Amino acid sequence: MIQKLDAIGGQALRDIAAATQLDVLENVRISVLGKKGALSEVLKGLGTVLPEERPKMGAAANEWKRQIEEALTIQKDKLESAALNIQLAQERIDISLPARLPHRGALHPVTQTTRKLLQIFSRLGFDPMTGPEIETEFLNFEAVNIPKDHPARDMQDTFFMGPGVVLRTHTSAVQMRALRSKKWPVRIVCPGAVYRSDHDATHSPMFHQIEGLWVDKNVKMSDLKGTLEFFAQEMFGSESRIRLRPSYFPFVEPGAEVDVSCFLCKSKPVDTCKVCKGTGWLEILGAGMVHPRLFEMAGYDPGEVSGFAFGMGVERIAMLLHHIPDLRRMFDGDSRFLTQF
Ligand code: DAH
Repeated sequence: MIQKLDAIGGQALRDIAAATQLDVLENVRISVLGKKGALSEVLKGLGTVLPEERPKMGAAANEWKRQIEEALTIQKDKLESAALNIQLAQERIDISLPARLPHRGALHPVTQTTRKLLQIFSRLGFDPMTGPEIETEFLNFEAVNIPKDHPARDMQDTFFMGPGVVLRTHTSAVQMRALRSKKWPVRIVCPGAVYRSDHDATHSPMFHQIEGLWVDKNVKMSDLKGTLEFFAQEMFGSESRIRLRPSYFPFVEPGAEVDVSCFLCKSKPVDTCKVCKGTGWLEILGAGMVHPRLFEMAGYDPGEVSGFAFGMGVERIAMLLHHIPDLRRMFDGDSRFLTQF
């Protein structure tokens, strides 16, 4: 009987050690220690053993039982922790994957350029001023000397909002507001959106301008030139020069278109220059000496005061500075474009 016990016990320990699955291990347990298990069957036969032999047999059987149970516990722990490790490895989160970053906003190039312009002119004593984008036809046109059937009206295809009310076509509409609301001296810059019924790669129905106006005793053309030269050098670099070409704007006399020397190819213009296309000059703004008719309309004495005005497009300056070829990109709202500035 002892031999039988040893055979069962030895086989059980080997089976336990060989079990690689928890259910296999459980089957081993049942087949040895279960009600009808091998060891239990042997113990049932204990009654047939001689009484003096019984304690010895019982002790041997119990010792096998203890060893088998211990081996089962150890093997079970081993299999359970192996299974847990596999599960942990499968559920691991890969923290080395690059994260999806949230898009960060930034100031629009038009806003950046407007702020820079205001800052430059503030150093010359120009105060910022704003006017409404929905403007009277009178202030947008008549008040800056563009009467009803003046051909200059056709130059600025106008959005009409209602009788006598338009979306302002230029920031020059603030000139009369400034003159009327203040006693001279007037020295203001007015940034803002303007509207024209026009849409292609170089025209947008909405764009931005900045208007300047300086009215005082004895303001001269040379003051205009000095002011714009300072602006050009602050905006485009200290080597910048300007040139004035005679031109016509109804609200100034004389009027001029003002060019700034190319900040990219500088004094040696090259045909391949991306900014000036080889001309060496950039058309930047319109300017001139305030027309006496505006002073009359505002109730000033043209013999007592004089002044200059200028106006420029903000998008155009931003596009030149950043080499942006298509105006429409400015208004797409594409963050891949906008975050470059
Ligand atoms: N208002 C003009 C335009 O929209 C720009 C302009 C030209 C403004 C000459 C001025 C000026 O003040 O003197 O094209």
